[in-house]
Amino acid sequence: MLIRIIYVSKAVGPQTTTMTSAILQASQTWNKAHDVTGVLCQGQGVFLQALEGERRAVTDLYARIHADQRHTDVEMLHCESIVKRRYANWSMAHVSLSDIDPETKIDWPEFDPYGTTGVLVMARIDELLASGSVIQGR
Ligand SMILES: Cc1cc2nc3c(=O)[nH]c(=O)nc-3n(C[C@H](O)[C@H](O)[C@H](O)COP(=O)(O)O)c2cc1C
Repeated sequence: MLIRIIYVSKAVGPQTTTMTSAILQASQTWNKAHDVTGVLCQGQGVFLQALEGERRAVTDLYARIHADQRHTDVEMLHCESIVKRRYANWSMAHVSLSDIDPETKIDWPEFDPYGTTGVLVMARIDELLASGSVIQGR
């Protein structure tokens, strides 16, 4: 049984490259080993992550992530059963929200993930992926 979840959270302290690299490194190893795929958008003090995989694996991972002291105000935006993965190509793709080219016309600062639905957030994530903002993949 596959599921996909999306959550938003706020970084505790600055989102340094060191912190991002540590998160991504852990993610890519664990996620690959447990067949979890997804996207981590990070920047402007916010994390936005989509995780998909077996329900047990995603549930366990979310519990661990939720308890992680590097972020706070973790809110589940979306959870659904799926038959097909959306982010099958990435154990954890990384989109840096700070590097987004203004030309992509994604008004990120005006987009408040806490104030909108999971479906809209997922559409934004897909826009970011389509605009080629991914800086790291499998
Ligand atoms: C925003 C954010 C996203 C994370 N994403 C993942 C992930 O996709 N996969 C993963 O294994 N760990 C991820 N982590 C790290 C976990 O929270 C946790 O530190 C790691 O799984 C090690 O857990 P442990 O210390 O309980 O062994 C993430 C952490 C943060 C702050």
